[in-house]
Amino acid sequence: MYKIAVVPGDGIGQEVIAEGVKVLNALEETADVSFSLDYLDIGSERYLRTGELLTENDIDDLRKHDAIYFGAIGDPRVAPGILEKGILISMRTTFDQYVNTRPSKAWHPYTPLKEEKDFDIIFLRENTEDFYMGAGSRFSNGKGVSLDLKRKLYDAKITVSMEANTDDEFAFEIGMMSRKGIERFADYCFKTAKDLGKDKVTAVDKANVCTSLYGMWREIFKQKSQEYGIALEHMYVDAMAMALVRAPERFGVVACPNMFGDILTDIGAEIMGGLGVAASGNISPSGVSMFEPVHGSAPDIAGQGKANPIAAILAAKLMIDNLGRRDLGILIEKAVRKAMDNKDLTADMGGHLSTKQTGDAIAKYISIVE
Ligand code: NAD
Ligand code: IPM
Ligand code: MN
Repeated sequence: MYKIAVVPGDGIGQEVIAEGVKVLNALEETADVSFSLDYLDIGSERYLRTGELLTENDIDDLRKHDAIYFGAIGDPRVAPGILEKGILISMRTTFDQYVNTRPSKAWHPYTPLKEEKDFDIIFLRENTEDFYMGAGSRFSNGKGVSLDLKRKLYDAKITVSMEANTDDEFAFEIGMMSRKGIERFADYCFKTAKDLGKDKVTAVDKANVCTSLYGMWREIFKQKSQEYGIALEHMYVDAMAMALVRAPERFGVVACPNMFGDILTDIGAEIMGGLGVAASGNISPSGVSMFEPVHGSAPDIAGQGKANPIAAILAAKLMIDNLGRRDLGILIEKAVRKAMDNKDLTADMGGHLSTKQTGDAIAKYISIVE
């Protein structure tokens, strides 16, 4: 019996998680597995009602589970960042889910790339540091930036001119990584490459501009490459964006700092068949991991039965793989493949079915596929 905390969240999160749960139920009927599901009311509705984001109580509840199955958060009624940082980022850091794994493989014929291209990439995104640490501030005092503030930044070795700059408004956001943080993440990347039999790790950065931050990143990846005896390739993030569209088959394990990983994995989603099929796992090697689609709450289509549930269903697959039942993960993937072959799909993939009908079809295929 696996104890799963279910957090559907906002917008289409609610709709797609319902279909993922259908598939979990179908697995229980077909295979020797059972799930106990606890639903947690975390998201914009509760925030608007009570002002709560991720509370101590939520954290205690979540901690009692083997995994968290998450939909999405984000609501046009709430200012950007409040729910995202207060719930999602907070969950990732609270449970120290320091790796975000986001596979990208060609789902023929739904990849917009050439039909003959086959690729199987696993993006690993550092998930707790970089520009996501919330180390930022904005000043608007109408009197120019105070000398005192400049002095503090200067003392912290944050380059700032002490003479010029009398702007009234001033904002900064610091990208910060620790040696420990990069080392444990790089360890995970090289171990993954070894486990999957990949011959290299591609590490993405912008070391030609952010020399301090990504200089340290490069140095540590080089050390780890030697330690593990696995080749390392450095790619600048701009060139990587181009290469992912031009020649994704060149890549296997792609290691990204947090922010670049966010951006590149939306490209990874699009080249495989769209955001509607992209799943992700926030992995805490020693704690509770969380599994979710890569997409957000999609307010533009929420409540209309248009959302593609496949990303959420494949997130359930990643969860089951992670719980140690790869045999069942394979079943889910085969059921999804069958739905694609039979065109039991939502409109974003050229189909005519609703979210529910697509989920029904995939749940039905669970008992048929071998
Ligand atoms: P989004 O991923 O919600 O949507 C981007 C586009 O893709 C939209 O046109 C949407 O309709 C479409 N789309 C997304 N998922 C789809 C699906 N399953 N089926 C069919 N079409 C789908 O990104 P956004 O519009 O930039 O953000 C909306 C809100 O979601 C924001 O508040 C944002 O902060 C939040 N967000 C949350 C998460 C998360 O919870 N992990 C991820 C990304 C964005
Ligand atoms: C994602 C999302 C989140 C991120 C946002 C909503 C905080 O875009 O999971 O990709 O930037 O990590
Ligand atoms: Mn994103």
